[in-house]
Amino acid sequence: MDVRNLGFLASHRGSNFQSVVDACRSGELAASPAVVISNNGRAFVLERARQQGIPAFFLNGKTHPDPAVLDQAIVDTLNEHEIDLVVLAGFLKKIGPRTLGAFRNRIVNIHPALLPRYGGRGMFGENVHKAVIANGESETGVTIHLVDGEYDHGPVLAQRRMAVNADDTAESLAQRLIDIEHSFLVETLGDIISGTIPLPNGA
Ligand code: GRF
Repeated sequence: MDVRNLGFLASHRGSNFQSVVDACRSGELAASPAVVISNNGRAFVLERARQQGIPAFFLNGKTHPDPAVLDQAIVDTLNEHEIDLVVLAGFLKKIGPRTLGAFRNRIVNIHPALLPRYGGRGMFGENVHKAVIANGESETGVTIHLVDGEYDHGPVLAQRRMAVNADDTAESLAQRLIDIEHSFLVETLGDIISGTIPLPNGA
């Protein structure tokens, strides 16, 4: 797939974003991180982007009270930066219909569990890992999937499994998983770019 420019939507710290930027800079990924959009004006991901000279924008219900206008502003920002593929890297908002339509089958999300289990509304951050521990699961993992109009929903593109140990806590799971996420996201984006993981036709 012809992917030159990557766009990111992220709400918080942006460690996955950083791993992709590093891979682009080192040449491991043949793409450029071209824009970051956050719904959270205080998100560290915005600071990371600005420090590295990557255009970064804060767009949310305060900057754009009308959801359709906000949705369009996200499309416009992605288009202005000629984005080919959008990566949700810890983005806690639903993607609007205009963005979904403009980037059909061109938006991927990374989620720290083996979807379809442990996804959906409220299943983010430590909530995911707490639920995995509470249910006595013997494994968890990371899912990268195409995005549709529901939280953590849409065709799975790739999954990586990880064992849950008897003495694991939500914190220890989160710590081990985030390292896997970083390399797995880079690897999977590489597979998408090379065509090893084909995406359905776009818009
Ligand atoms: C990651 O666990 C990702 O799977 C989930 O949100 C978290 C984002 O972490 N969607 P970071 O902001 O990339 O550090």
